[in-house]
Amino acid sequence: MRNLPPLKFKNGKFKIMVVGDLHESYDTKGSGNQIKSADMTKLMVRAVSELKPDLVVFAGDNGKADDEAKMRAVISKITYPVSANDVPLAIVFGNHDRECEISLERQLELYAQEYENFYTYDAVPELTGCGNCNLLVKDSKGEKDILNLWLVDSNNLAQDREISYYDWVHDDQIKWYKETANKLKEQNGGKVIPALWFMHIPVCEEYKLLRKARFYELPDSVKGHGDWSSNNYVLAQGVEGYLGEGPCCSCINSGVFDAWKETGDVMGAFFGHDHMNDFAGYYDGILLAQCKTAGFKPYTDGCRSGVRLITLDENNIEDIQTRMYHFKQFGLKSESLGPVQRNFTDRQVMKIKAASWIAGGLTATITAAKVAKKLKQKKN
Ligand SMILES: [Fe+2]
Repeated sequence: MRNLPPLKFKNGKFKIMVVGDLHESYDTKGSGNQIKSADMTKLMVRAVSELKPDLVVFAGDNGKADDEAKMRAVISKITYPVSANDVPLAIVFGNHDRECEISLERQLELYAQEYENFYTYDAVPELTGCGNCNLLVKDSKGEKDILNLWLVDSNNLAQDREISYYDWVHDDQIKWYKETANKLKEQNGGKVIPALWFMHIPVCEEYKLLRKARFYELPDSVKGHGDWSSNNYVLAQGVEGYLGEGPCCSCINSGVFDAWKETGDVMGAFFGHDHMNDFAGYYDGILLAQCKTAGFKPYTDGCRSGVRLITLDENNIEDIQTRMYHFKQFGLKSESLGPVQRNFTDRQVMKIKAASWIAGGLTATITAAKVAKKLKQKKN
């Protein structure tokens, strides 16, 4: 564990800002990507200054570069809005963080070198993935650990793509989680320490927050991914937020959710990966919440890029307050998006395109029919 001051509640509250899928990369001078990066920085600077989080968590697919100097520049850029305000930072890795020329282990070192207030560490280097760890949070008096944060690597793509496109949390990681949680329980007089879980790829149970779309709902639905791809879905009743794409979880259920239920400490879990989704809802007593991308370089529905804030109260820790804050809601103006993307969501843009194709097709058919009719009349 890194030798840093313990995280703690302030005046009874602890606020975590989750930043999903920045997909930052090294920009060459004059590249159009610089404008996209500028929009991302604008969002993060405003979010940190207005929301005043006690911890920022990057939810994976954070950044990449092809050499160490460039990776330092990328890390410096994405951590700047956080470091400028001296806010503790933690990260989990996503599948795209593996596309970087720098190993995940070295990336962790670079983060720590670029920003001293960096909390993620590799608890057990032998475990599958990198950066699996937990962070304890003390009460406002700094006397007692009252919250635990799990940061877990959801790994990369599956080795056998016949069974799943995405990999899953491996058995050794789940074993480590259960053992560590039970040790903490023992140290806490036999009571589990309430916890939140942060991971890049969502668990399969996200589909429990959706329901199959009825026929008339199809235009407003999304197609499922992988094993769920034969159906279209909408949000189930009571689930808040936006469903912009089918959750791209692994087709193999790793058993993480069941481990949470068995251990009894996890109150809520927060995911990135699906850039368009920002819904949140309870399944079997556990909050599952998506974080949209906060970037502008990856696929995004424009001004709905945003961050998620989680607020906990030490006197009622199980009452998780959470909501998304989108770019537009901060009153910001995008320089990188065109007028259509700036004003419509991706799903609306797709519908506009589909409607214009249908209208174009109908116009062409009617025109062709009219021409054919006229030619026929001339012949007669
Ligand atoms: Fe991503």
